[in-house]
Amino acid sequence: MKTEIIDIKTEYDRALQESARLLQNGEVVGIPTETVYGLAANALDETAVKKIYEAKGRPSDNPLIVHIAKFEDLAPLVREIPEKVKVMAEKFWPAPLTMIMKKSDRISNVVSGNLDTVAVRMPKSEAARAIIKNCGLPLAAPSANLSGSPSPTNAKYVFEDMNGRIPLIIDGGNCEIGVESTVISFAEDPPRLLRPGGVTLEEMTEVIGEIVVDDAVLNKLEEGAVASSPGMKYKHYAPKADITLIKSTFEEFKAFIENQADITALCFDGEGKELSCPFVEYGDISDGYSQSSRLFDALRELDEMGAKTVYARCPDTKGMELAVYNRLIRSAGFKIKVL
Ligand code: TXA
Ligand code: MG
Repeated sequence: MKTEIIDIKTEYDRALQESARLLQNGEVVGIPTETVYGLAANALDETAVKKIYEAKGRPSDNPLIVHIAKFEDLAPLVREIPEKVKVMAEKFWPAPLTMIMKKSDRISNVVSGNLDTVAVRMPKSEAARAIIKNCGLPLAAPSANLSGSPSPTNAKYVFEDMNGRIPLIIDGGNCEIGVESTVISFAEDPPRLLRPGGVTLEEMTEVIGEIVVDDAVLNKLEEGAVASSPGMKYKHYAPKADITLIKSTFEEFKAFIENQADITALCFDGEGKELSCPFVEYGDISDGYSQSSRLFDALRELDEMGAKTVYARCPDTKGMELAVYNRLIRSAGFKIKVL
């Protein structure tokens, strides 16, 4: 299969027409969002959704997020809309925010990974919403990477993973947020945060009060434990390099790596020039959004450099940095060293 790329900025009409034609015909299309690129298909068509799992090489018990363009599109997908979801949608949507509810009969087990719930998101990206609106379908879409590798934040990375596997990628430029959406479940009360992202725990708590933070957000799941979010049990965001997170000041970090051979540093902006080893920088030390927009690119760059052993500066766990920490700790296989 030949994979075409259409730039939505320069060919807006053709991007919308071609994506709608393919999606309505049960095909998979790579689409931009404000978080990461998605591999989209008609959420109401089982055969189309199965093609997503095939293209991605994803285990079929890992459920997909259904993307909508307006609030009225939510009701048909769920059994009922909890009051707190209405408040959250009013306050945040469109946003990098995915909300889980009990699913309606229209959501097949292929989309929900055999769970009785469905995850729904209204993306902030104008391009994403235009694509959804124009094809007139709710779109199931996981991140557009091969299962296990970092989520793609530009069309080039989607092409690297998906060339020959899908017919079309819509290029919408670089993703602004750079890590996947916040996932929060309203299938229980108080709601449970399953994955931190662009809408922060603090922002949500201000609006709906108590939120339980699932153990898997910060810690490794025990062997054999049942994951609240199946995606959290799989290896994730893993570059080929062996990464260890170093919890320390920059001075301690510098002293620690100075004594070691064949190290690559993953550090904050401006720090690399003070180190004597190769390095990749992943954003401003005090700005979680700057870090999130750089993180997955930085992980891919480490691979391109052929880095083998990587020591990474550790982000904070407040605000947007919780999302950065959550991804980085997984890419490090939960290895942390406290100096
Ligand atoms: O930002 C995003 O959310 C991107 C863009 C494309 O929208 N999508 C994305 O999808 O990250 P994916 O499939 O890579 O991650 C979805 C996560 C997985 O960890 C999955 O297990 C979890 O959400 N999830 C989906 N439906 C769920 C459900 N019903 N119950 C619990 N977890 C669910
Ligand atoms: Mg993913």
